[in-house]
Amino acid sequence: MIVQRISSTAFSEQKPGTSGLRKKVVVFQQPHYLENFVQATFNCLTVDQKTTLVVGGDGRFYNDVAVQTIIRMAAANGFDKVLVGQNGLLSTPAASCLIRQYRADGGIILSASHNPAGPTEDFGIKFNGANGGPASETVTQSIYQKTLDIDHYLMVSSDDIDLTKIGSHGVGDMQVDVIDSVADYALLMESLFDFEAIAGLFKSGNFSMVFDAMHAVNGPYAKEIIENRLGAASGTVINGIPLDDFGQGHPDPNLVHAHELAAIMFGENAPSFGAASDGDGDRNMILGNNFYLNPCDSLAMLTANASLVPAFQQGINGVARSMPTSRAVDAVAAKLGIDCYQTPTGWKFFGNLLDDGKISLCGEESFGTGSDHLREKDGLWAVLFWLNIIAVRKQSIEQIALEHWQKYGRDYFTRHDYEGLEAKAAQAMFIQLREQLASLPGQSINSLGVTSAEDFAYTDPVDNSVSTHQGIQIKFDNGGRLVLRLSGTGTQGATLRVYLDQHEGDPLKLDQDPQLALQELVKAADTLLGLEDKFGRSQPDVIT
Ligand code: G1P
Ligand code: ZN
Repeated sequence: MIVQRISSTAFSEQKPGTSGLRKKVVVFQQPHYLENFVQATFNCLTVDQKTTLVVGGDGRFYNDVAVQTIIRMAAANGFDKVLVGQNGLLSTPAASCLIRQYRADGGIILSASHNPAGPTEDFGIKFNGANGGPASETVTQSIYQKTLDIDHYLMVSSDDIDLTKIGSHGVGDMQVDVIDSVADYALLMESLFDFEAIAGLFKSGNFSMVFDAMHAVNGPYAKEIIENRLGAASGTVINGIPLDDFGQGHPDPNLVHAHELAAIMFGENAPSFGAASDGDGDRNMILGNNFYLNPCDSLAMLTANASLVPAFQQGINGVARSMPTSRAVDAVAAKLGIDCYQTPTGWKFFGNLLDDGKISLCGEESFGTGSDHLREKDGLWAVLFWLNIIAVRKQSIEQIALEHWQKYGRDYFTRHDYEGLEAKAAQAMFIQLREQLASLPGQSINSLGVTSAEDFAYTDPVDNSVSTHQGIQIKFDNGGRLVLRLSGTGTQGATLRVYLDQHEGDPLKLDQDPQLALQELVKAADTLLGLEDKFGRSQPDVIT
């Protein structure tokens, strides 16, 4: 095997964000750009950590090129074996599943999640460790440090391997196995849920479903599991063929971007159940017939009903939610007598809690839900979890939700996103806000009194690492809460996320429109931030 040592110059801005390195495709297409990042990642591994590597992505434009490059570099860097999904495809949860199943040292996942794809859109790369989860803050930092002073990378010269067929190849001294992207993941799902009960639900004739794969990676997974194994009618999965531009859509499963599904579920004769997942298959949106289920509520309800599915028949250890996620699950945890952790935004913060057995379930308001079955959020898993609950309870999602709210009260939640803000001005606004925090408690914003105001910092209970500046959290005397942070996944300007939530215990006020229920908080946020004056924005771009 002849290893080429290719000289290159460091790029100064390869700092991974909330979930890996995301940039426009043209940035990744610059000579040495991808290679530098991959080499920096490999440089963080010891010789012992170079046995097996899992590689795959969400199928977006440049996925195929990147997969071949990574294979050539893995061979040159001394890996024994690469496992790659057929056609270069692996959903993020399936990659996590394979890393764990085959005891790999880690994996490289090519995805920019729900961001649009195509030659002028986004690409992304992230490294997951041997536990199957996103690299920790410490590893991410050291990859970044290494990108700053890299001056060469290693590569073997070899032909592209045929990714279309399952089989084994040799690249340099390394073995490359092209494996079925779906099979292992599907088996894992069968071990967690009562497939017979769910199949019975489809057979009963009074339950129907639509799953919108949004032209992204989950299509083949959903077709195999929902249609082939569970017997849902053919055509239940729509937009099921992965396209490299996601059909020019924005595969983010929310009511704004999954508008095709929303139109079906809020139309006449809507099916009983609707669901969608995102570009790389780790997010989920759950809908009933003319009913939207907020992801914060979904986490709370899955936790409350966990004992109904085989995976959690023995109970659950604890739960965690990201800080901006509503406090709905906290009430369930209290009732169950289990711990509830509050982490910063980003799945990587759940990893230690899951590895340490402190939690069994976790979730984020951003349509991410998951459990200790792997170390990523998992869109299809959440859908199967819900199907299993419905099959046991024989009720609609709406009925289950209403009963839940009657018991626990309802935590109204909304997120308002302001996209494409001028980055420097947005950062300056946060600096100014942080300076204001100490003086806010005791003051009123409009009619709401501030009870506390903090710049959220998190100490990991397992390794004691500290992460600061994880979002501003302001609590009010009406029980409401306002959280502010800047997105760490965008690729253009800054995206401001404004999260609002408030508990409602009055049984007569449980079916309000969240935007109305939260209007006092929305007004307080307007007054505090003055976005109209600062950025000329009077309305958010996306409301979820
Ligand atoms: C967003 C979500 C966050 C999620 C991440 C990766 O990050 O808000 O919850 O973990 O995508 O899917 P953000 O853009 O807010 O940094
Ligand atoms: Zn995703």
